[in-house]
Parts: sequence; structure tokens; C-alpha cells
Amino acid sequence: MEIGNGKEGEISRRRFMVLAGGTISAISLGGMPLAGSNHGMAMDFSESKCGEEGRAGKKVLVAYASQYGSTSGVADAIGKELCRRGAAVDVCRVKNVGELNEYRGVVVGSAIYRGKWLPEAVEFVQRNRGVLRQVPVGYFLVCMSMLDPSEESRRKALAYLDPVLKAESHIQPLKVGIFAGALNYSNLSLPMKAIMKLKGAPEGDFRRWDTIKAWATGLHEIHGLDEKATSS
Ligand SMILES: Cc1cc2nc3c(=O)[nH]c(=O)nc-3n(C[C@H](O)[C@H](O)[C@H](O)COP(=O)(O)O)c2cc1C
Repeated sequence: MEIGNGKEGEISRRRFMVLAGGTISAISLGGMPLAGSNHGMAMDFSESKCGEEGRAGKKVLVAYASQYGSTSGVADAIGKELCRRGAAVDVCRVKNVGELNEYRGVVVGSAIYRGKWLPEAVEFVQRNRGVLRQVPVGYFLVCMSMLDPSEESRRKALAYLDPVLKAESHIQPLKVGIFAGALNYSNLSLPMKAIMKLKGAPEGDFRRWDTIKAWATGLHEIHGLDEKATSS
């Protein structure tokens, strides 16, 4: 398994989250509503199709789970890059994906909440385990731990995937991408906002498009296109 960890994209604003135990824990958030009534940032959960229709055997699925939209943007950027390299790509929320038979490769990603992929992403993998064992698969996650590009943060972020890797051990992702995400306090409930501030979680959009694009560029086994033929 190859890990794309954003090393090449140093975070310019070095604002690090100091989170107890490495995650914003379920204990500290128990029963608390995530969302506030004031949704300041437009939440975009885009789905798209691109690439040449009818390229049998070349279609790739990028499926994602997101609470507030930043992971949608990451999925979209991955899809666009694959498409630019010649693959036909569907970008879709995990809950809207139908049959996987038409895909020759699948990329699945989720935002991290409370140290885990969102439940719908885990369910997607479980629901489709039969197909995902047979096609090339990539996983990615979007989180705030990756604001700190240290080795320790990368290890911590990678460990967020442990539950799904253990539960579905027959599915071996060829590549794993771990990316910094975005946080908008105005999307959160007041108590949640207070907790995030207490934890030192910085507000802002920390997604590094160059890093995401570079990771997508390396998904040769998954999109099935020849590296040399698509490298221009
Ligand atoms: C309630 C809450 C819990 C979070 N838990 C974690 C966490 O455990 N680890 C982490 O690195 N980031 C955590 N984050 C940051 C999110 O993963 C990050 O903001 C991500 O970009 C959100 O993606 P989305 O906009 O697609 O929902 C948390 C954010 C919130 C609001």
C-alpha cells in the first residue's frame, strides 16, 4: 500500500491543532449537535461525470462522504485529474452510488470525524466488499490533523483508517491519500464551536490542491491507463 501524505505540500500557515489523544473524541462530544443554525459557508456536495462516454473498462468511481462539503471538493479535484489523464470518471456521494459493475477502479474517501471515517463511507465499503476485493481500490481521508505535516501527524491520520482496514482486511487499497481539510466555525453549533476553539482547531480552508492533484496523478493502477501514455 502506497501512502500519499502531502509532504510535498508544506502547510504555509503553520497553525496546528492540539487535540487530546489525537482526535476530537466521542467522549467530549457525547450527544452534542454538530451543526449550528447559521450555515455561513455554502456546502457543496457536487457529483459529476466526465471523460469520454463508452470507454469500456476505463470508467473509475470516486465516491466520497462529507459532512460540510470540503471532502466533496477533494473528491472533485481527484476526479478532474483522473479525467484529465484520460479516464472516464463518476464522482458521487457514497449514499448515491448504485451498482459498481461498470467501474474498473474505485476511489473511496471520507472526512474524519471523531477519529474515524464517516459511517456512510464505512457502510459503502461493507456493502460493496464483493466488488471492492476484485478491482483496484484507493482510499483517502480529509482531516485537520494533517495541518501539521510532521511524521507523527501522518501516522495519526493514517491510523484513522485502521477500523475499516481491519474490518475489511480482504480489501487492499493500492494507495492511501491523507489530506488537510477545512473548518468553518459558522457551520457548528455554539457548544461545538466552543469545544473546537478550546482544542485549538483553527478555522480556515487548508486543502492543498497541488498535493491532492499529485496524489491523483499517481493512481495509475486504479484508472488502468498507461503511465507513459498519460504523462504529458
Ligand atoms: C465535530 C468535528 C470533529 C472532528 N474530528 C476530527 C478528528 O478527530 N481528527 C481530525 O484530524 N479532524 C477532525 N475534524 C476536522 C474535519 O475532519 C475537517 O474539518 C474536514 O475537512 C471536514 O470535512 P467535510 O467538510 O467534508 O465534512 C473534526 C471536525 C469537526 C467539526
